[in-house]
Amino acid sequence: MAKKRAESSSKTRPGLRPGESVRVLITDSRLQQRVKQLAKEIRRDFPTEPLHLISVLKGAVFFLTDLARQLGGEVSFDFLSVSSYGRGTESTGEVKLIKDLDVSIEGKTVIVVEDILDTGLTLKYLLRFFEEKKPKHLRVVVLLDKAERRIADVRADYTGFVIPNEFVVGYGLDFDERYRNLPDVCVVHFASRGKAKSA
Ligand code: IMP
Repeated sequence: MAKKRAESSSKTRPGLRPGESVRVLITDSRLQQRVKQLAKEIRRDFPTEPLHLISVLKGAVFFLTDLARQLGGEVSFDFLSVSSYGRGTESTGEVKLIKDLDVSIEGKTVIVVEDILDTGLTLKYLLRFFEEKKPKHLRVVVLLDKAERRIADVRADYTGFVIPNEFVVGYGLDFDERYRNLPDVCVVHFASRGKAKSA
């Protein structure tokens, strides 16, 4: 019995460090429901097309794998890795490619699967990068949208949740590489220092 209690609590124990606290913003089950709906919306637009999903490592990995399993039909995926130049919470829009795509996207129906849209500068860079490679269709699905933070003139074709301007972690999103394994999307608070951001 004691063992069972320890096992059930370990999933939600967030691995907090001193001065940090988290508050659930979107529960695991709401995330799963919305991912299912997003998959339906995408398949409504592309009922029979093979879909090629592309994510930027690593924040959108859980979202991509859940979405892929809800889409049905022919689905493939690929990943790239970028680093944003910027300090603290601000991204400058300058993006350096760390890992390129493995396969060509020419002529494919590409769905860019993004974890969170903040200023939009990263997505703007990525869309230009992908468009040059001549996909048949190029669409964007984003799980979380901090709409009020937008600087770049970009929008997602499919949006999971519009959220307030707070730093969130969990379901793949990190602070300093931590908290990605939280099942819920949570707001993280720091007692003694500001917010931070990493890809
Ligand atoms: P943008 O270029 O400002 O839109 O930044 C987008 C990227 O910043 C996302 O793909 C995330 O990697 C990161 N990011 C922005 N806001 C958050 C947040 O609240 N938590 C974790 N990462 C974030």
